Amino acid sequence: CGIVGYVGPQSALDVVTAGLKRLEYRGYDSAGVAVQADGGLATAKRAGKLVNLEKELSERPLPAGTTAIGHTRWATHGGPTDANAHPHMDNAGRVAVVHNGIIENFAALREELTGRGHELASETDTEVVAHLLAEEYSACADLTEAMRLVCRRLEGAFTLVAVHADEPDVVVGARRNSPLVVGVGKGESFLASDVAAFIAHTREAIELGQDQVVELRRDAVTVTDFDGAPADVREYHVDWDASAAEKGGYASFMLKEIAEQPKAVVDTLLGRIDGSGSLTLDEVRIPANVLREVDKVVIIACGTAFHAGLIAKYAIEHWTRVPCEVELASEFRYRDPILDPQTLVVAISQSGETMDTLMALRHAREQGAKVLAICNTNGSTIPRESDAVLYTHAGPEVAVASTKAFLTQLVACYLVALYLGQVRGTKYADEIRAVVRDLGSISGAVERVLETMEPVRELARSLADKNTVLFLGRHVGHPVALEGALKLKELAYMHAEGFAAGELKHGPIALIEDDLPVVVVVPSPRGRSVLHDKIVSNIQEIRARGARTIVVAEEGDDAVVPYADHLIRVPVTPTLLQPLVATVPLQVFACELATARGNEVDQPRNLAKSVTVE
Ligand code: G6P
Repeated sequence: CGIVGYVGPQSALDVVTAGLKRLEYRGYDSAGVAVQADGGLATAKRAGKLVNLEKELSERPLPAGTTAIGHTRWATHGGPTDANAHPHMDNAGRVAVVHNGIIENFAALREELTGRGHELASETDTEVVAHLLAEEYSACADLTEAMRLVCRRLEGAFTLVAVHADEPDVVVGARRNSPLVVGVGKGESFLASDVAAFIAHTREAIELGQDQVVELRRDAVTVTDFDGAPADVREYHVDWDASAAEKGGYASFMLKEIAEQPKAVVDTLLGRIDGSGSLTLDEVRIPANVLREVDKVVIIACGTAFHAGLIAKYAIEHWTRVPCEVELASEFRYRDPILDPQTLVVAISQSGETMDTLMALRHAREQGAKVLAICNTNGSTIPRESDAVLYTHAGPEVAVASTKAFLTQLVACYLVALYLGQVRGTKYADEIRAVVRDLGSISGAVERVLETMEPVRELARSLADKNTVLFLGRHVGHPVALEGALKLKELAYMHAEGFAAGELKHGPIALIEDDLPVVVVVPSPRGRSVLHDKIVSNIQEIRARGARTIVVAEEGDDAVVPYADHLIRVPVTPTLLQPLVATVPLQVFACELATARGNEVDQPRNLAKSVTVE
């Protein structure tokens, strides 16, 4: 969910609704606002996307005020209805609260409250907090203190932001696990899940830590822990401006982010080779002697980031000869994984907030493993809680389905693999420089792919009425196939599956029927030519059974031509790096197909970009 709070001289509702617009990627099942006005609180909330709320506010304007909070929701407890939308209030309507996360002991608290005569209007865990805050406030008449007292009783992960009718010009926030950032302006203060919400007003931010409460006034920001002791906070300057989070002339963020990939790749590679010619990852503060002792690498991630991890495994094992496992973060800690101080855990996350990944990394650290985060969001929770972090420099990614972040995660994974090879002595300096040089030329290759996408778009449009598309790949092409299928599921709501091409004959080939589109990612014929030859046979097998073959192959690979109903060319790259170019046409394909089916590509149904619940 996305949260915004504001106190200052401007129209608070305008600031908050504009902020919500920028946070809509975090959830768009419903939205709501509360404003302090005329000695009371006025609220409006609507199911569905933010436009529904905006329409409501234009038809029935709320009174003007200078303090407000707002929320855009990704439903957990209770369906996406008007009643379940945030903010929630107590029975007297004196306190309003918005929330991100899950309050695990809410059933017990709810029972307690109804026992004391409270009437709860929604099915949400959040409403319980509004009632608890109202009770505590009536005893102490201090919203910040009331928030601290309530937080001490809550279990689970939560970020809360509240206002009280009797405390004008005060917004109080609390943070456990889910993100919350303060924006410090001149005579105005902001609170939001992400700096994007206030970047148009200020670039000075304060990051809140775990279990902290913040009191926001026009000229003061006070941060304490849940017991009221002053807390240490980190202030920072946001180094991108509002335009980075705008569409800049593209029809969607997704199209813009696909187009930004060459730059994102370059930015992530910047300054990695030092004066002496070796690879430097300044952020990796895990000492070389510890990395030399590592006897196993475990990668944890979700969604698209997991696919980056699957590809990383090939590079890590090939370049360092250290065994590497890749696991879905949501599965990881529940199977009692074998971890010790010699295990290096790599947590990959665009947002740095995904709760499954965060919980997996906490588990790993508890077992003594060292954790290195690969992350795109400065100061987010996952890097904060890791031993080291390598930032991808993709810039803000807004579209829910990940594109440029994926490419930069791959680059970061290759860098980590090379770095491990460097400190462990399995890679010579000149080999490392050669790979970094190859990585350096990838940006131009991605650019060339993007310039030749019109036939791919045309093909996608022609397949808009299909029900199923299959994706096949071998070696690093297998995770690329999985990613191609995921993009199509997320964006086009089509049944799409990725398979290892060799596994086809063991089951999935039964799915092949006349004219079924099958995308095949073909490895380079140079280098591991055996892989190439095997996949050419696989293409023949499916074509013989009626499949319509869509072949992604390297420029100059003529062996595939006779069997390709549609041929998508990608530039020549070293085998291990091919995913950086082969994924791009699949992103374009999914985006265009989704658009042809009339879907909203930036905000696909049921999804959210940062999933801060397990
Ligand atoms: C969500 C998004 C996916 C993303 C995944 C992991 O499910 O919809 O696009 O890949 O989370 O996100 P992260 O921020 O951890 O990379």
